[in-house]
Amino acid sequence: MLEVQHTPCGPQILHNFLYGACGCTGGWHPTAFIEETVAQLRAIIGQDRVLCGVSGGVDSAVVATLLDRAVGDQLTAMFIDHGLLRQNEAEQVIATFAPRLGDRFVAVDASQQFLQRLQGVTDPEQKRRIIGETFIRTFEAEAEKLGEFRYIAHGTLYPDVIESGGAQTATIKTHHNVGGLPADIRWENLEPLRRLFKDEVRQIATQLGLPDEIVNRQPFPGPGLAVRIAGEVTAERLEIVRAADAIFRDELQATGLSDQIAQSFAVLADLHSVGVMGDERTYAYPVILRAVTTTDYMTADWARIPDEVLVHIASRIVNEVAGVNRVLYDVTSKPPATIEWE
Ligand code: XMP
Repeated sequence: MLEVQHTPCGPQILHNFLYGACGCTGGWHPTAFIEETVAQLRAIIGQDRVLCGVSGGVDSAVVATLLDRAVGDQLTAMFIDHGLLRQNEAEQVIATFAPRLGDRFVAVDASQQFLQRLQGVTDPEQKRRIIGETFIRTFEAEAEKLGEFRYIAHGTLYPDVIESGGAQTATIKTHHNVGGLPADIRWENLEPLRRLFKDEVRQIATQLGLPDEIVNRQPFPGPGLAVRIAGEVTAERLEIVRAADAIFRDELQATGLSDQIAQSFAVLADLHSVGVMGDERTYAYPVILRAVTTTDYMTADWARIPDEVLVHIASRIVNEVAGVNRVLYDVTSKPPATIEWE
């Protein structure tokens, strides 16, 4: 089923099977989902208080908005800045949510703690576990200051559930909002989106009246830039990947290509290569650019960015980002690769 989009006539075959052979009617609609979910959340939560992690992505924004509708003042939304976000992103998240939720929105800068705990760690799964655990511990410590909560809400989607492994699926990556949570978490989990795919969540977000920049924001992994830096995560390496990533995204925006690309980002490799800059020999990092087209994120194709755009981006990155002397473009689809590098 995962390769449906990339199989010739795949969606048609599936459509015929569901509507013809199985007699499905296709009655799912965002409005009905919102009404049902708000009612369910209200019934489950009752008079208790709920804490919702907000990352700036569409998933957590939808969860927070559903909860706001369901239980209003019983909701507190918390943004933990783990210092692994893209350029200006933390500021953008705060500017988006503070006016909407007022004092029910709490922003915490925990970047130094995360950087400290990631020191010397190079294994991708270990990075994810550390980030997941530090994230929830920070949540606990900060929530403590806000009084009693019974529930914690997450923007977990169906692909996260499948890819984090279960009875019938192999663990591909430990997604930090699923497998990375410690077993002794003291709140009860609410995951109102766990049966949905990203495109369905975007439809719901539009229906909920969320702003365009949230509805169409590219997905961004919970562990952030830590899984886009091969090898150790340091303040210096974060700066490099952030600067390269910002140039890549700016240029895609400027050329109007962003609209055709589902996800685009820079990755910092864990190796050096020789280069020449003016009369000087350099020995610096390569940056890998990754851009994909996909609708469900379960399969993906690499985006055909025109040569002249890639050349311009590569030249800007090498000239403007200290520590980088080479730019590569990833032309692998998913499968066999994944979208992220780690
Ligand atoms: P992969 O790399 O598995 O990514 O092909 C599929 C989609 O999931 C996002 N992703 C993550 N999201 N926590 C998240 O919340 C994670 O650990 C994580 N890893 C990957 C990825 O950006 C893509 O959209």
